[in-house]
Amino acid sequence: MRAIKVVGGRSLHGTVAVLGAKNAVLKHMVATLLAPGTHRLDNVPEIEDVAIMAEVLRHLGADGERSGNRLVVEVPEDLRPETPLDLVRRMRASILVLGALLARRGRARVAFPGGDDFGSRPIDLHLEGLRAMGAEFELRHGVLHAEAPRGLHGADVYLEFPSVGATENLLLAAVLADGVTTIGNAAREPELEDLAAYLGKMGAKIEGAGTSTIVVHGVSELTPGAHRVIPDRLEAGTYAAAAAITGGDVTITRCVPAHLRMELTKLAAAGAEVTTGDDWFRVVGPERPAPVDFATLPYPGFHTDMHPQMVALLSVADGTSIVTENVYASRFRYLGELNRLGADVHADGQHVVVRGVERLSGCEVDGCDIRAAAALTIAGLRADGETTVVGAEHIDRGYDGFVAKLRALGAAVERLGE
Ligand code: UD1
Repeated sequence: MRAIKVVGGRSLHGTVAVLGAKNAVLKHMVATLLAPGTHRLDNVPEIEDVAIMAEVLRHLGADGERSGNRLVVEVPEDLRPETPLDLVRRMRASILVLGALLARRGRARVAFPGGDDFGSRPIDLHLEGLRAMGAEFELRHGVLHAEAPRGLHGADVYLEFPSVGATENLLLAAVLADGVTTIGNAAREPELEDLAAYLGKMGAKIEGAGTSTIVVHGVSELTPGAHRVIPDRLEAGTYAAAAAITGGDVTITRCVPAHLRMELTKLAAAGAEVTTGDDWFRVVGPERPAPVDFATLPYPGFHTDMHPQMVALLSVADGTSIVTENVYASRFRYLGELNRLGADVHADGQHVVVRGVERLSGCEVDGCDIRAAAALTIAGLRADGETTVVGAEHIDRGYDGFVAKLRALGAAVERLGE
């Protein structure tokens, strides 16, 4: 059992630096598949999901070698167009190899993806877009067989929802497709913009990344690239929430506060004093948070992956907050665990009603996914006594040095299990 033990009651003070974004680097790693040769990625966090993606690449024939926060990926001329089923099930982002393999090999076999357990997460938008570009799909025994018999061609695709993954899959396919692809109602996430920046360094012709219309002029080949991964806004936001709930004073560095504009606005509305610089921000927490309503939305709206951490903060607010989850049908499993700590939170349709309580009291809770585990740890920082968050392996998927960083800020936190 991997768990995190927190003894609550200490406020956090000091400085914490964030590393590269998990949700960017995983896509950059897939992008390397598009060009044979040696790629170099910097600011890469040491997290489990990167290790899983490295295994996926290895299975396809590419080789990733890490040294510190640098990852060098060697991509061969010939890629095996099949992904190992167990790895795809372990990490939903593996589905992105679909676009890249179709572009490079004209065919792919990928298992249907797994991922965090909050509602069904279909890939219909990925498939619809790739179909418009000339791909054909057949699902056989849980494995998606994909083929582009005449190669991929440009298409005019308009997404029903600005799905991050679908936009990325289409982008990865379009850069080597024949002709022009337009992706309308595209996701505008900074991580996606960073992927486009990396692809641009590899020779791709992309306009409009970061806006809702992306236009890609396909090229016949790409060359290997070198890139520094953008900072992880979710890591930064998690430490900000931790600082706020403990009434602490923490400066978060090596980040882009502009990528967290909505989240920081809501933290300030909850009573935190937030000061921002170009690549840092400082959060001074209130004695007791004020209630705040917010709704998750695609970027630049409030990030769904900051919802549980913010609810943890609001669980001790002086009043009731209403949180509306618009991105996932059900991201509410952690609410019951928060209530075990003495919170008063419940889901009503897509809304969460958070009635602030004065005190939380520590116990053992189940951190059922990465952000749930982070949120419960944050709640534990404020709770009386000892909180044990079971499921630390979820934290390992996306936070580099989580426990060490919290300890350096003065938290009484330790890791249990190997
Ligand atoms: C990415 C992030 C994840 C984040 C999410 C939303 C990575 C590795 N993961 O996930 O942490 O929570 O963006 O910001 O970057 N949908 C469909 N059909 C599709 C695709 C998506 O209905 O074909 C739905 C999903 O079920 C979900 C919503 O759209 O309800 C958002 O999904 P999407 O933006 O695709 O998220 P991911 O790329 O999977």
